[in-house]
Amino acid sequence: MEVGFIGAGKVGFSLGRYFAGHNIRVSGYYSRNPQSAREAADFTGTGFYASIDDLIRDSKVIFITTPDDVIGQIWEQLKAANIYDRIVCHCSGVLSSEIFSDISAPRYRCRGYSIHPLLAVSSRLHSYKELSNTLFTIESSTKDCAGSPLQEQSDSQTDEMDAMLHSCGNQVIHLRSGDKAKYHAAAVMASNLVLGLAQTAAQELQSCGFSREDALGALVPFMQMNVAHLENHTPEEALTGPVERGDVQTVYTHLGKLTAQNREIYRLLSGKVLDLAKKKNPARDYHEMDQILKCKEDL
Ligand SMILES: NC(=O)c1ccc[n+]([C@@H]2O[C@H](COP(=O)([O-])OP(=O)(O)OC[C@H]3O[C@@H](n4cnc5c(N)ncnc54)[C@H](OP(=O)(O)O)[C@@H]3O)[C@@H](O)[C@H]2O)c1
Repeated sequence: MEVGFIGAGKVGFSLGRYFAGHNIRVSGYYSRNPQSAREAADFTGTGFYASIDDLIRDSKVIFITTPDDVIGQIWEQLKAANIYDRIVCHCSGVLSSEIFSDISAPRYRCRGYSIHPLLAVSSRLHSYKELSNTLFTIESSTKDCAGSPLQEQSDSQTDEMDAMLHSCGNQVIHLRSGDKAKYHAAAVMASNLVLGLAQTAAQELQSCGFSREDALGALVPFMQMNVAHLENHTPEEALTGPVERGDVQTVYTHLGKLTAQNREIYRLLSGKVLDLAKKKNPARDYHEMDQILKCKEDL
């Protein structure tokens, strides 16, 4: 089952190299800029394609690894080519396979998937090494001729793409089409937004006299240790700090010292922490903490 890529960027490079390293046949790359496709072909030891038609001819599975905004346009190009009986995938976290309109129509008879690696793919040349520890989500809205879903939405279900990822040793979770946007928002919270939180804390430290370098140098191991605790503990077990202890005066003092925007971030996330604290210490009275965290007035 040869896999071909349209879009030779970070994800295209990384998935191609990863698949080729796991004995999956990769036909090669077509990209907007031929030089990108040539570089991806060299990097993965696969083929360079100057035309989409030639890539389709040599590929049973076609991964569209372009920016999200281009996926629909590429699908229209594929429909105008000889795409019959292919598997078409994109890697967007937020979009579902419903973007592949008419995919199961008799003239195409294709199956469509969105396949998302839960990884910040930051490098064309190095990120493939991180894919072996990466969970993939698969979503498919493709219907058979009778209009029934082609696959059951369950972890145990095995289909062609599920089997391919399992053969690489990856964990796979199946998503419903309607859950993709929420799933991706959750992924962003745990990745990009953590960077936003680090930036927020670093700015407050800088306003206390830390250099930016010292602030980040102090925060990175601190954040790493917290995340490491989650490997063996639930969030409730890992929880420490003033909200969990019920130190109302400390939290009140913090809120009074932060900028308005950072106070809002602190207040909202402390509300989440308070939910954990209540689960952890059901006998403890958090009534006053609740009130302080709900109070939106300037302190
Ligand atoms: N990066 C991540 O962390 C990550 C993680 C999971 C999923 N994804 C998803 O993976 C997909 C690709 O993301 P990416 O980060 O790899 O993006 P990227 O590095 O910007 O690469 C996209 C590539 O698409 C090519 N391209 C753009 N328009 C094209 C067109 N009309 N026809 C053919 N090729 C075109 C560009 O190639 P040229 O160089 O030829 O111009 C570019 O190198 C997106 O759907 C994204 O949501 C990304």
